[in-house]
Amino acid sequence: MRSIDNIFIIADVRKFEFTGSGKEADLQLFKDSVHNSMKLEKSLDAWKSITSFQGKIYPTIEEYNIAEKDRKLSNTVTSVATHKGRKRGQDPSEAKENEILRYRVTCERSGNHSFESADVARAIGGELQDKYCWLVDLSTYYLEVVCKLTDNELVTHLRVTHESKHRRNIMCFGPTTLRATVCYNLLQLAQPKTGDIIIDPMCGGGSIPIEAALVYSQSYVIGGDNHIKAVTRTRSNIDASASRCKIDLINWSVSQLPLKDCYVDIVVSDMPFGKRSGRMVDNRILYKQFLIELGRILKTSTGRTVLLTYDRRSFNMALQTAGDMFWVTKMLGVNIGGLHAAVYVMKRTNVLYEKYKSKSSKRIPPKIIEGRNL
Ligand SMILES: C[S@@+](CC[C@H](N)C(=O)[O-])C[C@H]1O[C@@H](n2cnc3c(N)ncnc32)[C@H](O)[C@@H]1O
Repeated sequence: MRSIDNIFIIADVRKFEFTGSGKEADLQLFKDSVHNSMKLEKSLDAWKSITSFQGKIYPTIEEYNIAEKDRKLSNTVTSVATHKGRKRGQDPSEAKENEILRYRVTCERSGNHSFESADVARAIGGELQDKYCWLVDLSTYYLEVVCKLTDNELVTHLRVTHESKHRRNIMCFGPTTLRATVCYNLLQLAQPKTGDIIIDPMCGGGSIPIEAALVYSQSYVIGGDNHIKAVTRTRSNIDASASRCKIDLINWSVSQLPLKDCYVDIVVSDMPFGKRSGRMVDNRILYKQFLIELGRILKTSTGRTVLLTYDRRSFNMALQTAGDMFWVTKMLGVNIGGLHAAVYVMKRTNVLYEKYKSKSSKRIPPKIIEGRNL
């Protein structure tokens, strides 16, 4: 579960035949299906039980009328205001027994349609209110109904997690703080074993080392960064986290790591993308130096590394230089805050660092004539 951001119950799946005769006619199809055939009771009961919602999900029309009247009278100030920007709605487990379910409907849409996403949310939301007598509340809702429309297929979800599960571990955020869920997935790709030495040499605010120390408590975890502010931020995050989070933290540069040859089992790192962090021109040199240094410190034959980058070009150039020492076992695409990044999963080959070094020093550098490589 550490890899999951949000959980939904899939409550209904159906297809529509849009007539093309106009927006209102198409929206009427959604309304009719909610009214006539969409049965959410089983999913609603499951949602109530999972989220420990104590309120009423099937109120009577009288109960609804009273609640709506009360709401208009008291301009309720809810706890959400104090958590602005952090929470999605309100935690259902905080609802009181006599409270009527407050809900909102959102729609994510792809494909060509005669209507907008907001129209779908309004149409379905209105029908759900007529059917179940719930209170519409766009910000302090307990239940979010998420309608995903792909071409003519509508999948209706009930959100179970009112807050994304990636919000853990970190108190002091930096410009490129990685989600804890992503950190966990990166670490999993390296398949850590008991006693492994795991390092993140470009740890920023420490999101990877902290997740590693919490999950793989039988490993020795080291984090480092060349920026002193990043090291300080990591220290604050370690101090704010649970006491079982043990990490050695060092201010270093990846071009010269103060570690012995063949010392490390696993390196997991989120490299400067050249966007939001660092510059692509600097990455050309940095990535090369980094891979060569990784070749030195990783255990030959068994060492593993998982590296996240947006700058595939610099990475591939670095691989051309240090490639003898690595074997790329997997390359995965990943969306990091809207950027199409790549994850390289690599194993250390059995080529000795000294052998690589002596071979690379014998390589004849290309002649440069009039600024062109030959
Ligand atoms: C993408 S950020 C890492 C963000 C981190 N995963 C987090 O969640 O906070 C890349 C980090 O690499 C560090 N870095 C850049 N060049 C470095 C070098 N030569 N040696 C060590 N760290 C370096 C930057 O200071 C930055 O903190």
